[in-house]
Formats: sequence, structure tokens, C-alpha cells
Amino acid sequence: MVRSIPIEIQPVAKSRVSEYDLTHVPFGKCFSDHMLVAEYVNGAWQKAQILPYQDQPLSYAISALHYGQAIFEGMKAYKNASGQVSLFRPLENLKRLNTGAVRMAMPEVPEDLFMEGLCELIRLDQQWVPDSEFGSLYIRPFLIATDEAIGVKISDTYKFIILTCPAGKYYADPIKVWIETSYFRAVHGGVGFVKAAGNYGRSLYPTKLAEARGYKQVLWTDSETHSYFEESGTMNVMFVIDGKLITPALSDTILDGITRKSVLQLARHWNMPVEERKVSIQEVLEAISKGTLTEVFGCGTAATIAQIIGIGYKTDYYELKPVAERTFSTKVDETLRKIRKGLMPDPFDWMLPV
Ligand code: PLP
Ligand code: COI
Repeated sequence: MVRSIPIEIQPVAKSRVSEYDLTHVPFGKCFSDHMLVAEYVNGAWQKAQILPYQDQPLSYAISALHYGQAIFEGMKAYKNASGQVSLFRPLENLKRLNTGAVRMAMPEVPEDLFMEGLCELIRLDQQWVPDSEFGSLYIRPFLIATDEAIGVKISDTYKFIILTCPAGKYYADPIKVWIETSYFRAVHGGVGFVKAAGNYGRSLYPTKLAEARGYKQVLWTDSETHSYFEESGTMNVMFVIDGKLITPALSDTILDGITRKSVLQLARHWNMPVEERKVSIQEVLEAISKGTLTEVFGCGTAATIAQIIGIGYKTDYYELKPVAERTFSTKVDETLRKIRKGLMPDPFDWMLPV
């Protein structure tokens, strides 16, 4: 096949994979043998390289570091029982990356560079994909502005890089979340709907305050009225109330999660009533007191389905129904895991073998 952007491969002389127990690696700290690096200069993507994972020189003056012209993606590869490695809905990640690129005035990443680079990279490092029940290879594509210039302007040069790390569970246990009404993750007209690096940097201080109160994560609310849920720090949020699956409707302040859209698709497939709309704090607190709120969970690539077992709001703490009674989120969690691991049919063609 003739590629519009050639990919040069420099394999490692010796793999490091045997140095790790892939089922017990901490999230995001152990990197597989190779990485992909592509450069954008003179108005075009140049050749891409798959290289041994290594540090590479970058100026301290680059725009990504000073002004946050940087976006990223999060996706996963899974291994089935016969050793075949597949990606979960990778084109959705490309679409979202490029939505982010447009909003952040960055060049879009061409589909062939993204898909062929990704597949080559994952094929080369397939022994790094854990085959354990909850294991996967977490994939971090990212795009950074690399002009060496302190003036605030759109960069002329960029790097598109893909790193990968074997991963297990992101949250080992069900979590408690804090409803945040003083600090906001996103505002209308801003960049909340894209995976801009700055969205995460700004969330660290409010998350630290929530952690000091005993909560693992923040549940963000809207910046205008402080009364409607948006999403959590690393995931979208869903509620089951009166047998209906309810989640905040997408807007320019909420990330269009790929796990979110997959959960909604499964729910509709199972004829579960689904509502994508504004969800107020008041509605949820009333449903807790009436006993009609039966499940609350977060969903995301790293987090998968993360059960939320308690909610803090102002001076109160609300203990939620036990995880053992949560039929919908337990079923959706198992179904996603089985589809990804090739343990059941893939009715929506979500998996792409590399
Ligand atoms: N919301 C935020 C802020 C996230 O960081 C993530 C994780 O990527 C999600 C939602 C879930 O998105 P996805 O399911 O595409 O991973
Ligand atoms: C993901 O789930 O892929 C994320 O990006 C969340 C987090 C690790 C930043």
C-alpha cells in the first residue's frame, strides 16, 4: 500500500516486556517498547517514525508548555483468548481529536497517519497488551504545538505522538464524588467539549480540595446556575432513576465520551428508556430521598464503568444504594468487557483488529 505519509519503523533491539508484571502495573507509568512520532512543518505532515520509547529533546520555549496549545486522546487495545489484539472504536477518537484540533487552531491529523500509525504501533507492541480479565493497553495519542517562540500566536510546527501503557483498573474500588459548585471545569464558548490539556490542569486544585474532604473525584456543575450536573473529572456521569437511564445532554461544556455513547447505544438496544437532558442536583437529591435513584456511575476509557457509592454536597453526605443491587451498570460493564475481549458477539462492529 502506498501511504501518503510514510511510516519509518526502528524496532528496539530487545523488548523490555519481560521486566514487568502486566497485570499489576500502576496506571500510566510503564511505557511499552515503542512510540510513534510525526512532525508537522511547512504546512504539512512529514514522515512518521515508530521509535524505541525514549526521551527526545524539546525546547523549554515551545507553545504547548506556555499557552496550552495541546490536546490528547485516550483509547484502549484489548487481547482476546486467541491472542488477537483489537482497538475499541478508534475512529471515534480520531474524530474527537480533530474536533479539538480545529478548536485549538491546530492542524488535523490525517486518517491514514492516525490509523496506520496506530495499527503498526500496536502490532509491534502486541505482547504488551495484558490478557488479564481487566487488562488492556491504554493508548495516549496527543498533539502539541512545538514552535520555539514566547509570543502568543498559533504555532507553525506540531508533533503528533502516540505512547502506550499496559493498564488494569483505573479506580480499584467504587468511588465517592463531591458536587462542586464553586469552581468550574468549563464555560460556554470555551473548550470543555475537547480534550484540551488545560481542562485537566485547571481541575487539579478543586480535585485536591475534594480529596481533602474524603472524595475521589469532583462532579462538575454548570458555571451559570451551579445547579445542573455536567460530568466528572475523568468520565461522563449517568443516573438510573425510576428505571430510566438519565445523563446530562452534550453541550460545548461536556466531553462527548465514547464510553458514554456506547453505554447509551447498549441501553437503547436493550429497550431501556434513555434520557439525555439537563439533570439538576435537586432532582437527584430528591430521587435519593424517595429511593427512586438506584444507580450512579461514571463512564470513560480509563475509568471504564466506575460505580459511585456516595455523593457529597455542601455539608451533607448521601450514601447511595449498594453496588450489588445495580443491575443496569453491572450488565453494561460486563457486556462492554466481553465485547472488547471477544467473549461475546460485537453487534455494533466496535472492535477493529490491528
Ligand atoms: N469526560 C472527561 C473529562 C474525560 O477525561 C473522559 C475520558 O476520556 C471522559 C469524559 C470519557 O470519555 P471517553 O469515554 O471517550 O474516554
Ligand atoms: C481517558 O479515560 O482516556 C482519559 O483521558 C482520562 C484520564 C486518564 C485523563
